[in-house]
Amino acid sequence: MRIGFFDSGIGGLTVLAEALRRLPDMDFVYMADTLHVPYGTKPKEDVKAYIFESVATMMNEGIDALVVACNTATSIAIAELRERYSLPIVGMEPAVKPAVEMNRATGKRVLVFATPLTLQLPKYYALVSRVDDMGIVDSLPLPELVHYCEALQFDKLVMNEYFKGKLADYDLDQYGIIVLGCTHYPFYKDILRELLPAHIEIVDGNIGTVKRLSALVNRYGIAGSGGSGQVQFMCTGNEPAYIDKMQTALAYLLEKDATTEPLQHS
Ligand code: DGL
Repeated sequence: MRIGFFDSGIGGLTVLAEALRRLPDMDFVYMADTLHVPYGTKPKEDVKAYIFESVATMMNEGIDALVVACNTATSIAIAELRERYSLPIVGMEPAVKPAVEMNRATGKRVLVFATPLTLQLPKYYALVSRVDDMGIVDSLPLPELVHYCEALQFDKLVMNEYFKGKLADYDLDQYGIIVLGCTHYPFYKDILRELLPAHIEIVDGNIGTVKRLSALVNRYGIAGSGGSGQVQFMCTGNEPAYIDKMQTALAYLLEKDATTEPLQHS
C-alpha cells in the first residue's frame, strides 16, 4: 500500500523522512508542485487551484492515504480535499498547542515561524484564539526561507545573517519555544539550534503528523501491507533535475544524524 505525500517543493520531505523511520512497511509517492512553488506568498485562490491539480495527479498514481505535508496547503484546502476524496487524509498545522502547553509553567513566550499565507488565513487565527489563553504567541512570516531551501542554500554564514536580521527586534530571553510552522523550515533546525540561546526549544509538527498517519492507517486497516519504504518522486514540472534534488535532500535528511556534511548545491 502506498501513502501519498504532497508539498509545494522539498519541504514535505522533512515529514516523509520521519514517516520512513516510523513506518518502514509502507511505500510512498512524493509529489512537489514545482510549477508553482512557493505557495506562501501567492493568492489563496490560486494556491487552492494548484493543490487540487496536484492532488488529482497523485490520485492517478494509486495511493491509499494522503499526507498534505505542507502547512500552507492544509490551511487552504484540507476541508475540501476531505470532502472530495474518501481516502484518509492527514494535514499539518503549526504546533502552537503543544508549544503553549510546554510554556505554561515558565510563562515564556512562543514564536511561530510560518509562511505569510499560513499566518494570514482564518485557520491559524482560529488555532491561536483557541489555544493561546495566556496571550503568549507571536508570529513571524519567513517567506525568504522557502526560496533559500529550494535553492539548497544551507551556508551557515548566509543563513545566520538572515536569521539574525529577522530576529533583531525580538528579545529572545522572553521566548521559550520557536515553532517551525512550515515543512521547509526543519531543514534549518541545526543552524537555528546553534544560533539561538540554549533555553529556546525548537519544535515542529512532523512527528505528530506521522503518529496521526500511523493511527489512521491502522484504523483503515492498510498498515503492514507489504511495502518496503520505496519512494516514487513526482513533480508537476517533470524536471529530472528536481527529482535528483529531492532524492539528495531526502538522503541528507535520513542520514543527517550520522553525518556533519552540509547539504549544498554542487
Ligand atoms: N512547505 C510549505 C508549508 O509547510 C509551503 C512553503 C511554500 O511553498 O511557501 O507551509
